[in-house]
Amino acid sequence: MWIRNAWFVAGWANEVTREKPLARVLLNEPVVIYRKADGTPVALEDRCCHRLAPLSIGRIEGDELRCMYHGLKFDASGKCTEIPGQDRIPPSMKVRSFPLVEKQKLLWIWMGDPALARESDILDWPYLDHPDWSYKPSYLHYKANYLLIVDNLLDFSHLSFVHEHTIGSMSLAETRAQIDRTPYGLKIWRILDNDVTPAFVRKLRNVGERADRWNIYDWHARGNILAMDSGFAPLGTGGHQGARENAVQFRHLSVQTPETANTTHYFFGHPQALAPGNAELDEQLLKTVTTAFIEDKDIIEAQQRIIDLDPNVRMQAIVHDSALFQGRRIIEGLIEDQAVAAE
Ligand code: FES
Ligand SMILES: [Fe+2]
Repeated sequence: MWIRNAWFVAGWANEVTREKPLARVLLNEPVVIYRKADGTPVALEDRCCHRLAPLSIGRIEGDELRCMYHGLKFDASGKCTEIPGQDRIPPSMKVRSFPLVEKQKLLWIWMGDPALARESDILDWPYLDHPDWSYKPSYLHYKANYLLIVDNLLDFSHLSFVHEHTIGSMSLAETRAQIDRTPYGLKIWRILDNDVTPAFVRKLRNVGERADRWNIYDWHARGNILAMDSGFAPLGTGGHQGARENAVQFRHLSVQTPETANTTHYFFGHPQALAPGNAELDEQLLKTVTTAFIEDKDIIEAQQRIIDLDPNVRMQAIVHDSALFQGRRIIEGLIEDQAVAAE
């Protein structure tokens, strides 16, 4: 159903404070995330081993978490350290703990075999905490399987229709993307010289009514990560390869973490370098991006509802499906490898 041996985004770092644990279902497992006294984030199974109450409605005490049903206390490794009114603590009294790393404003969790978790495999994407770039961290909850969202992100021809009135232009559906296989997944290039400039871009900087447009992104199969370089440069200035001083350029990160078989957490950020630290601009861009993302969400959730009526009905392919077919094959291959390794 999904890759387990991967670093998934569990949340934005600022979602977890010292005061209140965060409850989140990830890959169909209940997880609680809290911070120790020194700020280090900890991820435990959100299910007390006593009567299975969620630890997330418990209390942080020092570096530990107390279940507020009958008071069992757990340390950061998941070991029970106290049972009120009972001296002996059986070793089976524990909850699972997950490797968790805070990096570049995100919390990355490893839900698979902990022996395979290597911190150096976590995505390095400096735009999330670079002083020259700013954005507002964002989240959407989807009532859809994560693969339908991956499909959507691997094929931007939908921009012409789903985003007809926001960020799309007809040429996106008429241009074929270049798709390269990479060790981590795919690299996709959509270069549109002399395309219509969307209104929101013209308001940011006068790049002209038509501009040289690019969307170049890396898609990572492990963790369902899309990391993009996109922008609009004045005509004839070299587009993505040229000087970018007069361009409007963005970076974009979209990550999908499965919640359950048919629901997904969607984390995204859209850094801009036009005015780093300008919260008003970050807010305005977030509004534009969110408007477009709600358009995606509406069609994808509607698609999921139709699929649910009869999951056996098969889809048919068109030329633009090339990247998403490759993407799905890569994910299926990794899930199969994982199943073989687990045997
Ligand atoms: S359910 Fe947690 S202490 Fe009883
Ligand atoms: Fe979209």
